[in-house]
Amino acid sequence: MRTQVVIVGAGPAGTLLSLLLGDAGIDNVVLERQSRDYVLSRVRAGVLESGTVEILRRAGVGERMDREGHVHDTVNIAWRGSELLSVDTVDRVGKRMMAYGQTAIQEDLYAALDDRGRPPVFEAADVELNGLTTDRPWVTYTGPDGSTERIDCDHICGCDGFHGVARQSIPAEERTEYGKEYPFGWLGILSETPPLPILLYANHTDGFALCSMRTPMLSRYYVQCPLTDAVEDWPDDRFWSELLGRLPPSQAERIVTGPSIEKSNAPLRSFVAEPMRYGNLFLAGDAAHIVPPTGAKGLNLAVSDVHYLSQALIERFGSGSTTALDDYGPLALRRVWGAVRFSWWLTSLLHRFPDQTPFDQRAQEQELTYLSSSPAAQTALAEQYVGLPL
Ligand code: APR
Ligand code: PHB
Repeated sequence: MRTQVVIVGAGPAGTLLSLLLGDAGIDNVVLERQSRDYVLSRVRAGVLESGTVEILRRAGVGERMDREGHVHDTVNIAWRGSELLSVDTVDRVGKRMMAYGQTAIQEDLYAALDDRGRPPVFEAADVELNGLTTDRPWVTYTGPDGSTERIDCDHICGCDGFHGVARQSIPAEERTEYGKEYPFGWLGILSETPPLPILLYANHTDGFALCSMRTPMLSRYYVQCPLTDAVEDWPDDRFWSELLGRLPPSQAERIVTGPSIEKSNAPLRSFVAEPMRYGNLFLAGDAAHIVPPTGAKGLNLAVSDVHYLSQALIERFGSGSTTALDDYGPLALRRVWGAVRFSWWLTSLLHRFPDQTPFDQRAQEQELTYLSSSPAAQTALAEQYVGLPL
């Protein structure tokens, strides 16, 4: 079989890229290792930058987001027990965010591809990338029925996440990896209870906490926990009492508790692989970079990578010019490093580190004091939180 672009991975990056390329008349095939249900069962962050909202609308997948998403225009940080800093992003930088879960976006993207008769190939095993530095790369895989398949193409896009095959297909001597692991994780739950009307981050001596939302009857909450903790260490009662204890009393009393319907823990890490291109292989999304969830930049970066990459491929197949493809990696990385730095900073500002000395703690408190009193600092926070320009 032959196509123009093979896309590896049917997460948000791979499916949005497929939709944009297909709608521009570029033939493509998406290969996904997991089943559709498995991908849709993964719970991920849910805050969209204004640029992401625009890109999704232009791709034709904005209708449910605009109907069900919750406009989010303040960054709220609780600290020192009862202080509450609220930064209005519209006042500061004239932009707002949207709270809309990644699972819902993924459903919308699959539905759009189904409507067009171009669904991904699910349960594609043993994907291997070949001939990457030639004009005729090809991909082999084992189909869901056990058959061995081969697809020849012009370009391969690696949208297969951090644990995927694409980045690993680039010879180690051709890539540089920058990484940082944080000494804690986030324990997150979903609960069918009404969320707080605001998104609330908390810096507390017992550790970070976050109150977020999915729908009017679905809340998402997180608490910082040690890396060694398992989900079983966090029965619901313990989770709720830790969460409430880390929030200012005025907010804690507004939280409606209930049984969790999902519970998971995840370590926090920052990671960037450079370059984002090797021959005719282009990386996008988590395949090339990871941010800690603080600030919810992961999905937004995947969308901005795909925005640049789709435009470059459309130019390549339209006018034949490869200038934009040559510029793709450096252009995407400028934004990636902006979000990587911001996520690292917000993580450092809001968490309790196991080796934090009294000096470190006072410096962290001073940063929050400064942020609370400085309009300039608040503008810098808002500018990065709503997303750096595309
Ligand atoms: N072959 C085929 N598919 C693969 C392979 C492989 N060898 N390895 C991984 N995949 C699939 C995964 O099963 C997953 O569905 O690639 C997909 C990658 O999707 P994501 O991990 O969601 O990555 P991405 O699309 O870049 O989206 C980034 O997801 O991880 C969050 O915080 C992140 O919100 C951000 C977003
Ligand atoms: C979430 O809703 O899951 C979420 C929101 C904000 C973040 C991180 C995660 O900063």
